[in-house]
Amino acid sequence: MDTTVVDHPLAASLLTTMRDARSDNATFRSALRRLTHMLVYEAMRGAEVEQFDIETPVAPTLGVRLANPPLLVPVLRAGLGMVEQASALIPQAGVGFVGMARDEKTHQPVPYLESLPADLSGTPVYVLDPMLATGGSIIRTIDLLIARGATDVTAICVVVAPEGIEALRNSGHPVRLLTASIDDGLNENAFLVPGLGDAGDRQFGPR
Ligand code: PRP
Repeated sequence: MDTTVVDHPLAASLLTTMRDARSDNATFRSALRRLTHMLVYEAMRGAEVEQFDIETPVAPTLGVRLANPPLLVPVLRAGLGMVEQASALIPQAGVGFVGMARDEKTHQPVPYLESLPADLSGTPVYVLDPMLATGGSIIRTIDLLIARGATDVTAICVVVAPEGIEALRNSGHPVRLLTASIDDGLNENAFLVPGLGDAGDRQFGPR
């Protein structure tokens, strides 16, 4: 599985703000938005473009546009904080929604919302979720995408656990992963360490 860690001083500084327990909800949301910008920018680096004719005020020339814009899929709740910035960067992108809550005792993902186009064949899909811990939520989300024909999935996560990467790799799903950090691991509650706490709660308050 292709895994990219976006290693950049600006990304590291925003991640620090998100990790810091003193950051309030608004500060956390703002850092997440700005870091999402950098992650999506990197994710699009190899995207296919097509050329078309334009005219500058001076002369005709060739312009480029995205040949196949992705569908953005935030995983609710926490992924919601990434979608506005991602669609600002890729205005042609559509948006689908998946709701997934992790059971706090079993750590298993429980899907509660699936709002996606019926046919995803030929469409690149960017799954947005700040955290990949056990990997259960993302794998379950990608199951839903594959059932609709997706074959090209990118998971964009702020922080990931080695255990989650392993699980994603073992799932055999056609996915590449982009993140700002591979953290040390999971604690006994399957929380990322050092992590950033619960990204849903830190944006929107406890549920
Ligand atoms: C968090 C996070 C991921 C998931 C990661 O969501 O946003 O979706 O847990 O854990 P996993 O890799 O072990 O599945 P949570 O279930 O807390 O829901 P929320 O986004 O609504 O807060």
